[in-house]
Amino acid sequence: KTKILKIDPLDFNEKDLIEACNVIKSGGLVAFPTETVYGLGASAFKEKAVDNIFKVKGRAKDNPLIVHVDSFEKLLEIAEVDEKYFEAINKLTPGPVTFVLKQKVNLPKNVTAGLKTVGVRIPAHPVARKLCKCAGPIAAPSANLSGKPSPTDSQAVIEDLFGKIDFIIDAGSSEFGLESTIIDLTSEIPIILRPGPITIEQLESIFGKVEIPQFVIDASSVDNPKAPGMKYRHYAPEKPVYRYNKVQREKVIKKAISENGVFICPEEHKKFYPDNRIMILGKLSEPYSIAQNLFKVLREFDRSNFNVAFIETFEEKGILLSVMNRLKKASVEVEL
Ligand code: TXA
Ligand code: MG
Repeated sequence: KTKILKIDPLDFNEKDLIEACNVIKSGGLVAFPTETVYGLGASAFKEKAVDNIFKVKGRAKDNPLIVHVDSFEKLLEIAEVDEKYFEAINKLTPGPVTFVLKQKVNLPKNVTAGLKTVGVRIPAHPVARKLCKCAGPIAAPSANLSGKPSPTDSQAVIEDLFGKIDFIIDAGSSEFGLESTIIDLTSEIPIILRPGPITIEQLESIFGKVEIPQFVIDASSVDNPKAPGMKYRHYAPEKPVYRYNKVQREKVIKKAISENGVFICPEEHKKFYPDNRIMILGKLSEPYSIAQNLFKVLREFDRSNFNVAFIETFEEKGILLSVMNRLKKASVEVEL
């Protein structure tokens, strides 16, 4: 029931995407690659199709979707933007960032969960852009079952959604492996609602002052969050994941051996752990590689024979702050 199309993102024709475009235009669901994670797309103006996104993901209705478009002009058709932000938006797009803006058109209620604002993204991935061009605007959350780690390749999409959606475009692994940075531009000072591939340091250099709510740092749930998606369990494998700091390392190794545990660690740390209990997460010397592998390795752990996983926390700077935000949602602090 689900058609899978393989595409080389560096060498394809617009024609190759005609079928996927038609599926979206006629109210179907298409999983497609972006440079962050894979999205599950429907036409943003087709309420029924959007409803199906919530159904197949098991997503809570009060968690709004991101609307994807292929250009700044299209973004301006959907949302109102203060002119003082034009330059910053143009610097950041196309790319791994979503802007929360005031809604200009009336989108179906389910897209925005009834909010007066809308999250808009202009993805840079060539396949995503072409798809938005021919079938946009496209409403799309990540293409995983709710609560699971976001999919960074077609295998993960297949695992969660095969048989439930119409079409999967397979264009290999996502470049960043973490969902877009979400920044709210509806108030005087930009507010970071979700850290992501565009780091807080980068945003500060572009916007000057930005606000970082405490829930972004804690990655905790809050009562009436500005990013409604934040309050749900997220990114988590079925099996338990514990995080710890390096002071606890020796004790955690004993625990892991007695509980059939595995260490998810960067290349540079594998020397600390038993050889047969390691899954590699990239390199500390290339921190973007850690972001790129996080969700993929969490899914690998779920498929493995290990009962439990242990991850050492990272210093919350640059891209590793975004990694820690996701890790805090996927894990609990170890108790020794
Ligand atoms: O990289 C990404 O962001 C991927 C790709 C497919 O674009 N999308 C994605 O969507 O990861 P997801 O599943 O995280 O869901 C959209 C997020 C939710 O956390 C939601 O709360 C937030 O965007 N969001 C959407 N519209 C919003 C709004 N009007 N105000 C605040 N947050 C909003
Ligand atoms: Mg998601």
